[in-house]
Amino acid sequence: MNYQVILPAAGQGKRMGAGKNKLLLEIGNVPVFIHTLRVFESDPECTGIYLAINPQDEEEIRILLKEHQITKVAAMAEGGQERQHSVYNAAKAASGEQVVLVHDAARPFITRDLLQPLVKAAWEKGAAVLAVPLKDTVKKADGNLITETLERSCLWAVQTPQAFRVSSLLEAHRKAEEDGFLGTDDASLVERLGNEVVIVQGSYDNIKLTTPEDIYFAEAIIKKRSHI
Ligand code: CTP
Ligand code: MG
Repeated sequence: MNYQVILPAAGQGKRMGAGKNKLLLEIGNVPVFIHTLRVFESDPECTGIYLAINPQDEEEIRILLKEHQITKVAAMAEGGQERQHSVYNAAKAASGEQVVLVHDAARPFITRDLLQPLVKAAWEKGAAVLAVPLKDTVKKADGNLITETLERSCLWAVQTPQAFRVSSLLEAHRKAEEDGFLGTDDASLVERLGNEVVIVQGSYDNIKLTTPEDIYFAEAIIKKRSHI
């Protein structure tokens, strides 16, 4: 089933501390965001890629897209102050297909086999996210005093892509903006409207590159894959 994908890529990478957008750092000699783009470029069911970018990264990104023969970028929108604003800016440009994915450009290890179950679930239920069962025990605390140990068997670490019917994503973002609501992912904007979001099992390799040690994990994943 066809889909389009929105890739928010307009962050600052502050926690990575590289002095520039972490997406332009290389792992395995290829920039992070190019790894991500290649997955969608090579998927025949992806009909268009919508990027949200910082104006100061635009020239470098355009050069890299050309160099790595990425041809499916249908539009580049300007990023916003927060990730949510970047996604909404890019979502306004996406139209046509019935299902749209939102995927962090900072998650380069997404694999194609995970995409179709997600797209199908979103088409049937309205919205779906990839997630993996939590490995750690999670506790709530008031300051440094524990108040509750959460039941791990019903906790999930949510990833991207998150998939939506196009109308559902646009409506959720419009309403969030209207209400001044800022969420840390797109599904939460749909959930707050009382709409169902289903979980599709993701992969523990599908990490988001956030802090410097994630680069070591990323190099290890690349090495593992090159041996398969
Ligand atoms: N992102 C975006 N627009 C923003 C903030 C983030 O498009 N205003 C994108 C990032 O480029 C990344 C994804 O959203 O692909 C997930 O965000 P995150 O991991 O937080 O990246 P950064 O915001 O760049 O990192 P930091 O929060 O450490 O500054
Ligand atoms: Mg951020």
